[in-house]
Amino acid sequence: PLVSMNAFLPRAKKEGFAVGQFNINNLEFVQAIIEAGKEERSPLIFGASEGAIRYMGLKNVVALSKVAAEEADVPVALHLDHGSSFEVVMQCIQAGFSSVMFDGSHYPLEENIRLTKKVVEAAHSVGVSVEGELGTIGGVEDDLDVKDEDASLAKPEEALRFWKETNVDALAIAVGTAHGLYKGEPKIHYDIIEEVAGLIEAPIVLHGGSGVPDEAIRIAVSKGVAKINVNTENQVAMGKVVRELLDKNPDMIDPRKYLGPAREAIKETVKGKMRLFGSSGKA
Ligand code: G3H
Ligand code: ZN
Repeated sequence: PLVSMNAFLPRAKKEGFAVGQFNINNLEFVQAIIEAGKEERSPLIFGASEGAIRYMGLKNVVALSKVAAEEADVPVALHLDHGSSFEVVMQCIQAGFSSVMFDGSHYPLEENIRLTKKVVEAAHSVGVSVEGELGTIGGVEDDLDVKDEDASLAKPEEALRFWKETNVDALAIAVGTAHGLYKGEPKIHYDIIEEVAGLIEAPIVLHGGSGVPDEAIRIAVSKGVAKINVNTENQVAMGKVVRELLDKNPDMIDPRKYLGPAREAIKETVKGKMRLFGSSGKA
């Protein structure tokens, strides 16, 4: 069955590793990610954005994730990524999600706290874990589009207040990474990660995990990041294989012939992240 993130994130923070949230975009993503988890003996989080839910259908997202979790003997959470309202969060919980993110980062702090707290109260009453967000993460992902000049770092004292007042199970803080493809190398503020990790009990989440150099990820995890979100790198892996195969083989008409190898490429990418994050062997 699908489990709450509390089944593995507190342990990850304590033992100094991070669990990956791998976003799902279609059936092949679900299959690739669960196979990677099985082979690496790693807990994992399926991330479903509102855009992915619109594309796949809410019931399909839940059904595919449940089947995958049942077939694997590793802990699997199904997590709403960047939920934009109380209503969307409730729809997902009712449909069977085991975890949700409420992203109120674009609201003033008071309002973010008020709205997140309401989500936490409702979610906790049915055993669903909640991730909140503080500061503004730059870049583009589905419905979110934050210009570089509008991205702002999280403030540690606000993180402490946010965590105490909302009681979130995990907290995403803006520390310099961005969604989507980077134009250059991200400048990660490790000092903020370290300070917030020391101030609050809840595990820290790093969004925009694609394209971050391995060494930067290792340092971020050593400073207290316990969950890392990855979507773009898997999309790139899939696209590259499909593009190459179709370019080389104009007569290739069976989608299984190009989506199968693309699925394999996603699986390898996810396995690499699980090893890098230190979650391999932790299931
Ligand atoms: O919420 C999802 C992740 O933050 C995706 O980040 O675009 O770097 O893969 P990414
Ligand atoms: Zn994100």
